[in-house]
Formats: sequence, C-alpha cells, structure tokens
Amino acid sequence: MVCLGNICRSPLAEGILKSKVNSEDIFVDSAGTGSWHVGQLPDPRSIDIAKVHGLDIANQRGRQFTPKDFLDFDFIFVMDNSNKGDVLQLSQNESDVKKVQLILEELFPNENVDVPDPYYGGEQGFESVYQMLDKACNEIVKRL
Ligand code: 4NP
Repeated sequence: MVCLGNICRSPLAEGILKSKVNSEDIFVDSAGTGSWHVGQLPDPRSIDIAKVHGLDIANQRGRQFTPKDFLDFDFIFVMDNSNKGDVLQLSQNESDVKKVQLILEELFPNENVDVPDPYYGGEQGFESVYQMLDKACNEIVKRL
C-alpha cells in the first residue's frame, strides 16, 4: 500500500487489509513515496478512525518506498495517480510495471479514480477514506 507520506492513507489501507487476511499467508506493508515521515507514527486522525473501526495501527512506522519493494511484493496498490507516477519511475521492467495498480481500480475499473489525500482536510475526510479503502480491500481479498 503506497501513498505520499505513509502517515494517512496507506497506513489505513495496510491495517484494513491485514485485518482481512491470514498473516501467515499474506504479508501486507505500506510505504510513502516521500521521505518526510520516515520513522513516524501514522497521523493521529488515521489512528483514531482505525480505532473507531476496531483496528490498531499505532504499531506502524513510516518508511519510504524503494526499488527493492518491486522484488518483495506481488501487488503494489497506490492511492493516487501522483503516487503511481512516482512508483513507476522506480520500475525497471514490465514485470514491475504490472504490479502497480490504483487501489480504487478495485471498485471503479478503468475510471482512474484517486483516493483523496485527507491530510489538509478535517476528520470527515478520514472516515470517507476509510470506507473507500475498506470496500477496495474486500475486493482485493476476493482476488487473493
Ligand atoms: P498521505 O498524506 O500521503 O495519505 O500519508 C500526506 C501526509 C503528509 C503529507 C502529504 C500527504 N505531507 O506533505 O507531509
């Protein structure tokens, strides 16, 4: 799960998908394309909205996406088109490119829909992001 800062959207996506799969079968992680929040906790608003839905994401710490992630992961879900462009810039071959997908393709195929960045907005943005990611993760689980 990849976003820009790895403190708002992708930590939520990581926590949600982890809650829906068996960790012995499927390894889920998240990262940001930027480095500003490396080592930091998720945004308090993401921690709070996760808690409202019964998830604890306060064990996560920010990290930056690296080219090695193309080797370590089978699927790379990006939150928006900007993240997608940044990740694709680090791809080295067609196999890498094929791993990268907008997460909302799961709900709106071929519509090129972004998960909006809630960082500069209010609490309500986090609830709507949570709902989108929860629905998208249900579809991912079906596919896995
Ligand atoms: P995220 O949100 O990409 O969903 O984690 C952001 C968090 C921090 C910043 C931008 C987006 N920032 O500019 O610091």
